[in-house]
Formats: sequence, C-alpha cells, structure tokens
Amino acid sequence: MKFFADTAEVKDIRELADLGLLDGVTTNPSLVAKSGRQFKDVIAEICGIVEGPVSAEVVSLDYEGMMREAADLRKIAKNVAIKVPLTLDGLRACKALSSDGCMVNVTLCFSANQALLAAKAGASFISPFIGRLDDIHLEGTDLIAEIRQIYDNYAFDTEILAASVRTALHVKQVALIGADVATCPPAVIKSLVKHPLTDRGIELFLADWKKTGQTL
Ligand code: E4P
Repeated sequence: MKFFADTAEVKDIRELADLGLLDGVTTNPSLVAKSGRQFKDVIAEICGIVEGPVSAEVVSLDYEGMMREAADLRKIAKNVAIKVPLTLDGLRACKALSSDGCMVNVTLCFSANQALLAAKAGASFISPFIGRLDDIHLEGTDLIAEIRQIYDNYAFDTEILAASVRTALHVKQVALIGADVATCPPAVIKSLVKHPLTDRGIELFLADWKKTGQTL
C-alpha cells in the first residue's frame, strides 16, 4: 500500500520523505491556499523532493480550460499527475491526457458509478473522499469496498487512492479493503506509529538496561 501526503507544506513533505515513508503527494486548491505560496512554485519544489506522483489540480471547469492548465502544469516535472474533477468535462480531459501518457487523478469521487467512469476514462488514480462522506453520516469506507470490487471485476488498473482520510482508523480500514493508496495529512501518517504499549515497553526495557550498568 502506498502512502501519499495530502498537503502543500514542503517542510512536512520533506520530513516524511526523509523517513522513507512517502510514495507521492496530493494537493488541492484549498491546501495550496493554506500554504500561502504560488501554486506552480510549490508543485515544482515538491516534485524536487518526491519521485512519485505529485497531484496538481486544475481549476477550470470546461474541457478546453482544463487542457490548457494541464499543459502548463505538466511542464513543471515528469511526476506531475493532473487532478481533474469528476465531471463530464473532467472525464473528457482525463481520457485525452491519459491517452497522451499523462498521469491523471480524478478527484471528488463520491459514488461507485463515478469511479467506474473514471476507470473507463483511463485515470491513473481515482480519489474517493471518505471523510466527507462520513461528515454527512454515510460510511465512507463502504465506497472504497464497492470500488475495489468493481475494479477487480473488470481488472481495471486505475489505482484506488483513498482520500479525505482523517484518522488512523481510516488508514487501517482502507488497507484492509485493499485501497492501493491512502493520501493522508502528515500528522495522520506519523500517528500510525503510536502505541502506548510500545512507549511503555521502551520505558521498561531502558529501566532494566540501566540496572545492568552496561553501556553500548
Ligand atoms: C484529496 O486529494 C484531497 O486533497 C483531500 O484528501 C481532501 O480531504 P478533506 O476532505 O479532509 O479536505
């Protein structure tokens, strides 16, 4: 299972990359706004840190605009994945871009049928937003399971990129279902290591080691 960092904060990306835990990055217009930086500059810097796919989202809603923005964003680096919204124009752009050898991440997926369309359009990644479904009292992880089944039924090679991941529990749930990727806020990725018994175990071992009077 791959881990992508869902952030435009370069410091956090660098930290996860140094830990060897990072397979890619996803950004969106809200995350770029939060970073306070110029979109293309931040994507270029991230692409210099991470070898894997770095999603950069178009903001036009029409096909021509999306293609124009994508052409610009693709020039930044080879590992840029163009992120398009799950609309008819977005799917058309996905088909055109993927046929031209470009990685495409189809975003804002909230149904299995939308995911089916994205796979047919040749998407490299489909981004089902589980947290936002939870927010409206639906079971976000059910969507991941439905898409997994559909993609397996037809051997689609579009990767399921579980998005809007908010908790460590989400990560476990989508891993059990078989999502190919989880994109998470850096704090969620780092929280996966935490267990009170690990901390307690270290404490006890070190206390006993001290009693031996030995050094290493
Ligand atoms: C995915 O690519 C999105 O950037 C992201 O996961 C959205 O998460 P949110 O619903 O927590 O904003």
